[in-house]
Amino acid sequence: MRFMPRRNLLLPTLCIALLIAVWTFRAPTPSIDRWLDTSAIRGTPGTTSSPSPPSSLNNLPTHNHGDVDLSSPNAPFVGWPLQRVCKEATWVEGLVYICDNNSGGIGNIRNYIQTCIRYGLEAGATGFVMPRIRKRNETDLADLFTDYLPLDYMFDEKHFKDAFTTSCPQITLYDSIKDIPGVGSKPNIEHITPKKFGNREGCDWRDQNRHTDRFGDRFRRWLSDPKNGKSPPSRDHPRLIRFNWGVLWDWQTYRDGPEFVNTFGNILKLNDQLLRLGEVTLQKMRAYATANGVEDGKFLGVHLRTESDALSFWPTYTTQTEAYLKQATKRGFEAAYIATGDSLEAQNFAGAAIEMAQMRVVSKMDLLEDEDLEELESLSWDQQGLIDLIVLLGSDYFVGTMPSSFSIYIAMKRHLKTEGIYTRPYKVGTEGDGLSYLVGNYEKYWEGWLYMWDGMWP
Ligand SMILES: *[C@@H]1O[C@H](CO)[C@@H](O)[C@H](O)[C@H]1NC(C)=O
Ligand SMILES: *[C@@H]1O[C@H](CO)[C@@H](O)[C@H](O)[C@H]1NC(C)=O
Repeated sequence: MRFMPRRNLLLPTLCIALLIAVWTFRAPTPSIDRWLDTSAIRGTPGTTSSPSPPSSLNNLPTHNHGDVDLSSPNAPFVGWPLQRVCKEATWVEGLVYICDNNSGGIGNIRNYIQTCIRYGLEAGATGFVMPRIRKRNETDLADLFTDYLPLDYMFDEKHFKDAFTTSCPQITLYDSIKDIPGVGSKPNIEHITPKKFGNREGCDWRDQNRHTDRFGDRFRRWLSDPKNGKSPPSRDHPRLIRFNWGVLWDWQTYRDGPEFVNTFGNILKLNDQLLRLGEVTLQKMRAYATANGVEDGKFLGVHLRTESDALSFWPTYTTQTEAYLKQATKRGFEAAYIATGDSLEAQNFAGAAIEMAQMRVVSKMDLLEDEDLEELESLSWDQQGLIDLIVLLGSDYFVGTMPSSFSIYIAMKRHLKTEGIYTRPYKVGTEGDGLSYLVGNYEKYWEGWLYMWDGMWP
C-alpha cells in the first residue's frame, strides 16, 4: 500500500486522541471489592474457584486471579475455561470416548488422558468412560503395560468427576463400558488416530495435529457418513471411540488460550494420600535445611533421571550432575532434595554435591520415618515418584533433564507461579522464569523432543 500523505492522518489522529481521553476519564467500574474478596478462595481445595470468569458464564463470585497459586499440587480447580469450552461444543448424543490405555510415568499418563479428553470435547462426546491407568511392572520398569487400575491409583477421582459435573453438565461419566446405555453384551469399540483427520500432507509424522479446531467437524462428518458402514450414534445405539495407542503431545495446547491451558491440567489432581505424604516430606525437607543452618529452609529440587528405563540418548549421569551442581553453586544452595528411582545414583550424586558444591543432599527415604516411611514403602514405584513430584514443585529452584516428561511437567507447573491463569508459555531451554532449569539438547525440535512442551497441559 502507498504511504498516506500527512494531512490524511489528522482526522484519525483526532479521533484516537478523543477515544483515549474518554477511556482515561471514564467513570471507574464498581469492581473494587471484587478484587478484595479473596477470602473465599484461600484454603478451599477441591472447589470450583473462579478467578475473573467472563460475565457471560453463570458462575460463582469473581476473584482476583493473583490469589490462586496454580503451581500448588493442591490448587483449587478453576472451572470457567472448561465451562466455556463445553458451552461452545457441538454435542452428539450416543457418542462415548474411552480414554483408558494410559501408561508410563505421571507426565505421560496425564498427557494421554488429557489429550484424549480434549479431543473428546471437540468431537462433542456426551459420554466418557472413567480413565484408567496401566500399572508398570515393578521388576521390569520398561514394561508399562500390566494391570488396568482405577484413576484413584494416582488421582482424586471425586475431584475429576466434580470438575465435569460442575463445568460440563452435558457429559455423563461412566464407571465402566458396560454401564453405557444400549451398549449390549459385546461392545463394539472403534479405534481411531485423531491426526488422520488432520489432512497432514507435508508434515513430519511427529508433528502435532495442526488442525485440532477442524477436528470436530471432520470427525462428526466421518461419524455420520453412511460409506463407513455404520449409522450415526443415538441414545439407544451408542458409538464407542478409543484411540490407537500412542496419542500424546498431539494437541497444540496454546491454541486454547492461556486460561484454558493453565487450568485444564488440574482436572487431574493427586489423590489425598499422595498429597498428604508429599506435604509431610516437603515440610521435613524444609526442616532439614533449616536444621543445617539454611535460611528459610531453602533447598534445590533435583530430578536425576538415570534409571534402568531411561533411553540411551538422554543426558547421562555425568551431564546431569555437572549441570545441576553448576546451578547449585551459582545460586548458592546448601541443601538439596533428590528425586530418583535409583538409590545408588542418589548416593553418588550426594557425594559429588558435598565435594564440589558443599551441598547436602537427601531423599524421601532419608526424611520420612516410622509410619510415614512404612506408608511410602507400601506405594508402587510410580506412586513414590509422585511424592518426589510434590516436593520438587515446592522447591526453591528446580533442576531436571530433557526430555523427561516428569521434568517438563514440573517446570511448566512451577511456571504457573508467575501469573497463574494468565501465565504466558514457558520459554523452553532458558532460565527465563528464575524457577527451573532443564539440562538437555535444545537444538532440534523433533530429535530433542522439544515438541513435548507444546503439547502439555501444566
Ligand atoms: C514383570 O516382569 C517380570 C520380569 O520380566 C516377569 O517375570 C513378570 O511376569 C512380570 N509381571 C507382570 C505382572 O507382567
Ligand atoms: C494399549 O497400548 C498397548 C501399547 O502399545 C497396545 O499394545 C495395546 O494394543 C493397547 N490396547 C488397547 C486396548 O488399545
